[in-house]
Amino acid sequence: MAVSRRTVTVVFADVADSTPLGERVDPESVRRVMSRFFEQMSEVLERHGGTVEKFIGDAVMAVFGIPELHEDDALRAVRAATELRAALAALNAELEHEFGVHIGIRVGVNSGEVVAGDGSGGHMLVTGDPVNVAKRLEESARTGEILIGEPTRKLVENAAVYEPRDELQLKGKSSSVLAWNVLATIEGAPAYARRLDAPLVGRQRELQMLRSVFDDALAGRKCRLVTIMGPAGIGKSRLAAELASSVGSEARVLSGTCLPYGEGITFWPIGLIIGGLGGEVGLRATLAGAEDAELVADRVLGAVSPTPVSGPGGELFWAFRRLFEEVARDEPLVLVIEDIHWAEPRLLDLLEYLAGWTDDAPILLVCLARPEVLEERPGWLSAADGASLLLGPLSEAESETLLTEIGREWPLDAAARARITEAAEGNPLYVEQMAAMLAEGKTLDAIPPSIHALLAARLDRLSPEQRGVLERAAVAGKDFTRRLVLGLSPEEEHGEVDATLLDLVRRDFLSARPGREDNYRFRHVLIRDAAYAGIPKELRAQLHERFAGLAERTQSGRAGEIDEIIGYHLEQAFLYRKALGPPSDDDRVLAGRARELLTAAGRRAMERGDSPAAANLLGRALALTPDDVEERLVLMIELSEALTGTGALAEAQRLLDEATAAAEAAGDPRMRARASLEASFTRLHTWDGGLDDFLPQSDEAVAVFEAAGDDEGLSRALMLRAYITFIRCRIAETEQIVDRALAHAMQTSGKRLVPELLHVRARAALRGPTPVTAAMEWCEGIRAQSGGDQALDAFMRSEIAVLEAMLGHFDHARELSEAAQEILLDLGRTLAVALVRAEAGAVELLAGDTAAAARCLRPACDTMQEIGERGMLSTYSALLADALSDQGLDDSADTYARLSEETALGEDVLSQVLWRNARARLLRREAALEDAGTLAKEAVGMAADTDDLNLLGYALSGLGGVLVSARREPEASAAYAQAAEVFRRKGNVVAGARVEERANVLAIGT
Ligand SMILES: Nc1ncnc2c1ncn2[C@@H]1O[C@H](COP(=O)(O)OP(=O)(O)O)[C@@H](O)[C@H]1O
Ligand SMILES: [Mg+2]
Repeated sequence: MAVSRRTVTVVFADVADSTPLGERVDPESVRRVMSRFFEQMSEVLERHGGTVEKFIGDAVMAVFGIPELHEDDALRAVRAATELRAALAALNAELEHEFGVHIGIRVGVNSGEVVAGDGSGGHMLVTGDPVNVAKRLEESARTGEILIGEPTRKLVENAAVYEPRDELQLKGKSSSVLAWNVLATIEGAPAYARRLDAPLVGRQRELQMLRSVFDDALAGRKCRLVTIMGPAGIGKSRLAAELASSVGSEARVLSGTCLPYGEGITFWPIGLIIGGLGGEVGLRATLAGAEDAELVADRVLGAVSPTPVSGPGGELFWAFRRLFEEVARDEPLVLVIEDIHWAEPRLLDLLEYLAGWTDDAPILLVCLARPEVLEERPGWLSAADGASLLLGPLSEAESETLLTEIGREWPLDAAARARITEAAEGNPLYVEQMAAMLAEGKTLDAIPPSIHALLAARLDRLSPEQRGVLERAAVAGKDFTRRLVLGLSPEEEHGEVDATLLDLVRRDFLSARPGREDNYRFRHVLIRDAAYAGIPKELRAQLHERFAGLAERTQSGRAGEIDEIIGYHLEQAFLYRKALGPPSDDDRVLAGRARELLTAAGRRAMERGDSPAAANLLGRALALTPDDVEERLVLMIELSEALTGTGALAEAQRLLDEATAAAEAAGDPRMRARASLEASFTRLHTWDGGLDDFLPQSDEAVAVFEAAGDDEGLSRALMLRAYITFIRCRIAETEQIVDRALAHAMQTSGKRLVPELLHVRARAALRGPTPVTAAMEWCEGIRAQSGGDQALDAFMRSEIAVLEAMLGHFDHARELSEAAQEILLDLGRTLAVALVRAEAGAVELLAGDTAAAARCLRPACDTMQEIGERGMLSTYSALLADALSDQGLDDSADTYARLSEETALGEDVLSQVLWRNARARLLRREAALEDAGTLAKEAVGMAADTDDLNLLGYALSGLGGVLVSARREPEASAAYAQAAEVFRRKGNVVAGARVEERANVLAIGT
């Protein structure tokens, strides 16, 4: 066994109170007593599959999981521990009798990842924290206690009875450790609960197939064998349970399960079946009157008793067959034998015999097996007229349904559901265990321990060669090519790689990808993860580095996306080296290359507007950058921009404050200006002070960048100014500043800021003096030149949508707006999605569908609130208030109007006008006409000071409404007429027509 990483369970057992023994009894006798007990302990531990690693004084240490892993190692260990306690009780009876003394035992058990050596040179076989914790648990146990740690408890939860112990402060551990005292184990119980009573999802075709085999057995009065085959957790037991309940009224159903280990377990499942018949009494009653009843009963009972009596083999099989024929005489019989991959060969023989020789009796023999059964018995499926049913994964839709069911118990949000569906790949047990893990507040970064145990045990049965190939493949990824595995394999193994890959396909670890020569894929991503988890870190580092080298050589023509891949492998190589010890100079060079590649990939992500990818890549690049590297500041600033795009405003802010301080300390005015400039940008969204505070910063930055000839910096500084001007609703001035900023942005190499600047420009054109048709033409022009820039394309669509709505082309507007939302959603641009969705609300307001408007605006406002954004929130919550009050939902409307009022900056004229308007409308309903009038007039006054034509028209029309309520019709008419004129000037046909209509209604009324 080479060095490997594996999850094992460690048992420490120590004899307590042995001192009085030494005082009262001659040492020679003590020695004899103790060595007998140690022998007994070893025997118990080994019988459960443990390896006794060493004796230390009166203590013994055993490991479950070396040299062989079992999926139930933790449970085996706990069972062994309880059995040790029982064995000691027997010994004590003797001691009392002989010497009048007795001894006690303390046990500690813990599970976790260790590094296992090959045991050469007498070195410890396993090393790792779980070993120390198990030892400490044993030391903290009181006499007679079996203390298990939390990781072990999780793995035996369903099969053990335990009580909590106080959190223990263990020697050498910084934090306290949870511990439980095991009172007993539950015989035959599986380690974790399965939910066989939950509603069945899918599997209708399979049920039908089973049903038809059953019908066949009935019609022919013969025994039919069907094997339900599939990996652990795929739903074999669940399907068998469903079959049992569906034929329950027509047949007698009896079932038994094979056990993974134990003494005398050959006919264990048959024993359970006889239990189902009512034990000995039931069995004899069933056989009453049959030929040879006595003999059959004796043979069968002998074979399934706790101490099996073996009669002549042929006679035994005959007896079983006779028994089942009798049971099935009057009523069809369904026998379910679960988990025959653990069956002893004799049991398999029996099952084949039953299928072949049963006469004149309708019996359906359902066997459940993992594919491993074929390793034990390659001919299983072709045997004895057997049929088989291979259970595949659930479809994605079925997994979703299953999650909905599970969600009743453990509520999951949409993101969690999506993660689970993706990672579980249709295995219902994985779905359940992952849901349970999330419900406990854990993340899905690691495999749930129960599943890890299953997969690791499967991998452990591979030969070192197979294991090696699978590990190299795991480094390459879920999908990989044969060529990569060859490249990662040592020269001398090249000859075998192809055969091994095919073998792994046969064993269902991998699948070949049809139509793609030499392409393979892991059967399940968790198999890849488990294989990867078994690789020692030193080897992981080597393989990742070698992978990077291979990729560099073979893909040299296609820089670009390959940067990210190579960067990843170098990064991993470095991180593992670092985990193993202080990095060498070579390691640092490795880290530097990784950083360069990740930075390049991150910048490209930023250029295509993919903020989450950029945030991820740049964040990783930053983590690889030592403090003394100049690049660090630039990275921090770029990362903060990406973070702002994803909506992580607070994180961005923190990073920028750090960067500003670092630049200050380094005496770098340009970096300082950039960092504080970026900080201003994020603050625009979260700020609650005056906008004027930003101006000196923007001025100072402009000066610094001008001196340095820094176009990038200049465009950014001007952009800040443009935003401030825009918020103040000086639209024409905004346009001029944007144009200046654009000129500088065009000079930069990536032209990174261009899309965002054009977006501001478009929004200005939409609101300001530019007529609607001209604004539209301009936006269309930009869109036509967007040159594959998806974010820019989406922004333009969103603005054109509002413009189209002003012209009354609502269907087209909605199409554009939806497309824009989809694009930005795909890009993960949280903030931009919220903005565009809110603009979709504006489209609906123009269309007069206020319910639809609320449906767009409400989630947009919710997102803004969630991420701590206030700048846009103040505007759109006022629009939402309007939409809601239009539907008569005045209370909610009031809430949002007040939210707008609270979050609006004093100089944010747009929001100031909008919330006044919304509040005025509500007050007007309450007949608080005077206050309504004041607010509406204030709104008009503020709007009139700007060149935002839509805003002015809107304010005037709001005032008109208040005046109508106050029965001041002539003044109302005048306000409406003015509004109509303003909208006409803008070319906002729809809003213009609406106020004109109101004016006309007034005219008719008077
Ligand atoms: N088709 C299904 N619909 C609903 N739940 C299922 C389905 N298949 C499996 N499950 C659930 O998934 C878990 C694992 O299934 P199980 O039948 O125990 O797998 P196997 O016997 O193949 O190891 C169980 O809790 C089971 O209830
Ligand atoms: Mg099962």
